[in-house]
Amino acid sequence: MRRKLAAGNWKMNGTAASLAELETLKSLLPANAPDVVICPPAPLLFRASEAARDTGIQIGAQDCHMQDSGAFTGDISAAMIADTGATHVIVGHSERRAAHDEHDRDVRKKATAAWAAGLTAIICIGEALEDREADNTLDIIAGQLAGSLPDHVSAANTVIAYEPIWAIGTGKIPTLEQIVEVHDFVRSKIVTRFGADTGDMIPLLYGGSVKPDNAATIFEAANVDGALVGGASLKAADFAPIITALANS
Ligand code: PGA
Repeated sequence: MRRKLAAGNWKMNGTAASLAELETLKSLLPANAPDVVICPPAPLLFRASEAARDTGIQIGAQDCHMQDSGAFTGDISAAMIADTGATHVIVGHSERRAAHDEHDRDVRKKATAAWAAGLTAIICIGEALEDREADNTLDIIAGQLAGSLPDHVSAANTVIAYEPIWAIGTGKIPTLEQIVEVHDFVRSKIVTRFGADTGDMIPLLYGGSVKPDNAATIFEAANVDGALVGGASLKAADFAPIITALANS
């Protein structure tokens, strides 16, 4: 059985006051809750890790640098993230790829750095609207998988999130058929590259406008093992029903 994971990406939202959401979320978690990871902004990582202790909620960062340390003003290394008590880090989010000019090779190095620090890398891929409209989605996905995934992935250190860029923060989501097509494709690619023992066990998340009212449908897809949730993860009252839908899927 693959592990199910609900990951919340707070992006650049939240201050210390937002940590109360963790307490609320804990009180709303179903008894059969899947893995739950909250990725708050970096300044909250230490406090979030403390607040999440013994709650069943894990904490992740939204990005890391590919180097261990050095003259990289403003950057944060994977070891620093692990030092806060966090267990996960998102790498290659489309907002990082677009706004910070991150490419597949950078994402690959960041994932490797994450593993070296003992973190699980949540590696993001996804096509732009023009790729989708030109019917190039699977080519783009294949290229991102080939370029962004290091060679030594394991089911313990890697999660892949498929996030069509046009679905992020827009309220638009692909049809269930489109989600199934991409997730089945990703599964077959990683099984081919890494073997069934690994490829069949890596959790695949869908991300992009996941909300309480569409989550259950998305989780019907056999190769959707969870969600990477932006806006609807900010409030425990919105995120909890998504977690419950995943638990019951
Ligand atoms: P959204 O963001 O749920 O607000 O669309 C998802 C993401 O960017 O991870």
